[in-house]
Amino acid sequence: MVIITYLLPALAFASSAIAQCSNAATLTITASADASVLAACTTYSGSVAIPTGLATPQDTNGHQQLSVDGVQVITGNLTVTNAIMLSSLSFGDLKSLGGFELGSLTVLSELSFPQLTQVSSMNFTALPALQQMSFGGTGITQADSVLITNTGLSSLQGINNLQSVSTFNVNNNAALQNISLQVTSIKNSLDIEANDGYVSGLTTTFPMLQTAQNMTFRNCSSVLLPSLANVTQDLGFYGNTMTSFAAPNLTTVGGLIFVDNTDLTNISIPGLVSVNGSYQIANNTMLKQINGFQKLSVIKGALDFNGNFTEVDLPALTQVQGAFNMQSSGQLDCSAFEADSTTKQVIKGHYVCSGSVSKPGGAGTSASASSTSKPTGKSSAGHIEANFPAVMGGTSLIAGLLQLIL
Ligand SMILES: *[C@@H]1O[C@H](CO)[C@@H](O)[C@H](O)[C@H]1NC(C)=O
Ligand SMILES: *[C@@H]1O[C@H](CO)[C@@H](O)[C@H](O)[C@H]1NC(C)=O
Ligand SMILES: *[C@@H]1O[C@H](CO)[C@@H](O)[C@H](O)[C@H]1NC(C)=O
Ligand SMILES: *[C@@H]1O[C@H](CO)[C@@H](O)[C@H](O)[C@H]1NC(C)=O
Ligand SMILES: *[C@@H]1O[C@H](CO)[C@@H](O)[C@H](O)[C@H]1NC(C)=O
Ligand SMILES: *[C@@H]1O[C@H](CO)[C@@H](O)[C@H](O)[C@H]1NC(C)=O
Ligand SMILES: *[C@@H]1O[C@H](CO)[C@@H](O)[C@H](O)[C@H]1NC(C)=O
Ligand SMILES: *[C@@H]1O[C@H](CO)[C@@H](O)[C@H](O)[C@H]1NC(C)=O
Ligand SMILES: *[C@@H]1O[C@H](CO)[C@@H](O)[C@H](O)[C@H]1NC(C)=O
Ligand SMILES: *[C@@H]1O[C@H](CO)[C@@H](O)[C@H](O)[C@H]1NC(C)=O
Ligand SMILES: *[C@@H]1O[C@H](CO)[C@@H](O)[C@H](O)[C@H]1NC(C)=O
Repeated sequence: MVIITYLLPALAFASSAIAQCSNAATLTITASADASVLAACTTYSGSVAIPTGLATPQDTNGHQQLSVDGVQVITGNLTVTNAIMLSSLSFGDLKSLGGFELGSLTVLSELSFPQLTQVSSMNFTALPALQQMSFGGTGITQADSVLITNTGLSSLQGINNLQSVSTFNVNNNAALQNISLQVTSIKNSLDIEANDGYVSGLTTTFPMLQTAQNMTFRNCSSVLLPSLANVTQDLGFYGNTMTSFAAPNLTTVGGLIFVDNTDLTNISIPGLVSVNGSYQIANNTMLKQINGFQKLSVIKGALDFNGNFTEVDLPALTQVQGAFNMQSSGQLDCSAFEADSTTKQVIKGHYVCSGSVSKPGGAGTSASASSTSKPTGKSSAGHIEANFPAVMGGTSLIAGLLQLIL
């Protein structure tokens, strides 16, 4: 019965290996031995955590490296937090993962996942030494949510081939110079903020992006959205240093907001027909002419503009459901909007329009004129007869005709 004494341990080993490839609790790796258990599994059903206090050898700097090969799929999360001496983390064969969380890894500078293409979520928080990610050839193409905050990353190489994403939030990465994503839709929200700590500006490009629910851009030096067709909630720009913004294919948007973009001189959204929420332009100090909205017809919320502009052209406007507030420290001719508010009844809400205001304010503030000088700027609203055939078409033709009748 010599055979049995051989077989039993072998079976015992096999079954324990299978058991270890599936774990309802989280597998915690603190030493190489734990890592080798994982290495024996092609698919690991469960979550893996690498916490502080790794029992792996330290190099002369006291730094630790961890490398796990073999495992291709982890169905749960991989969470690596507070391993403050971990300088290098590598999963050589891992292709797919649930949540991927790296947090407070002070010296982590090498991240190598050369096969990884799919994660359900990514949360990279407080990784000051991490300058680049290595996710192999195409990088990660599928992720439901991405949060990258407080890292040393200078580019998003490794995730810039994402095809679609629900939530994308990249903030406070002081060395980041460039965000370029191939996504076609943002199902939930996009937030880009305060990534300009060390560099002169963050450029952002979304060449394929067509639809989004909500987008917020702060502190960017350029934002390119050439394919964007519609945004269901808000599209907001705050404190960016871009000099111009254009969205040539955008037709509808929930809310549209431009605040504190101090270098902005030109906004061009020539195909925009409806703003289903509010439309705010405030404190863009260099913006003198607001004339890139040739087709804007319907504003379902309020129109709230204040600044130092001298010209506002909204030639296709047929309806402003909410309040209308337009205050400028520049010389502004309000007569076209006056008519929209009174005889044409295009503007349904409370109407304020005033140029040469000493402190132009937002909706709800009163406009106090600093001088009574005659305005020299020009503005237009409603329907200029001369442009009638060119401007009108489709539903706005009907709306325009109705207006002529009324
Ligand atoms: C994985 O992480 C996500 C997001 O942090 C969490 O909602 C989920 O419950 C985690 N799943 C497991 C199996 O721990
Ligand atoms: C991301 O991870 C950090 C720390 O690791 C945690 O505090 C934070 O709640 C996580 N955020 C999300 C959205 O999961
Ligand atoms: C931004 O990154 C993309 C992809 O990494 C690259 O092709 C592009 O040249 C970069 N643009 C700038 C302005 O650095
Ligand atoms: C803009 O829309 C037009 C018409 O739908 C389309 O042909 C064109 O490819 C779009 N441009 C971009 C850059 O997506
Ligand atoms: C958004 O744009 C897409 C592509 O142009 C179009 O199919 C869809 O109907 C639009 N949705 C809305 C609400 O306008
Ligand atoms: C905006 O409202 C119009 C008219 O109600 C509707 O056709 C369009 O789908 C709405 N757009 C969005 C992006 O919700
Ligand atoms: C949607 O975008 C607006 C403006 O950009 C922002 O103020 C708001 O917080 C965003 N909402 C969500 C849920 O992301
Ligand atoms: C980033 O933009 C915000 C406005 O959204 C502004 O208050 C802040 O000063 C800007 N930060 C930098 C570093 O420009
Ligand atoms: C504003 O930008 C649009 C689109 O890029 C361009 O066609 C137009 O000439 C610009 N206007 C001015 C005054 O520069
Ligand atoms: C514009 O600037 C004024 C003066 O600094 C400030 O009171 C106001 O809140 C700003 N408006 C917005 C929308 O940020
Ligand atoms: C408005 O712009 C003019 C020049 O176009 C400038 O002289 C004036 O100081 C500006 N006023 C404010 C309040 O920014």
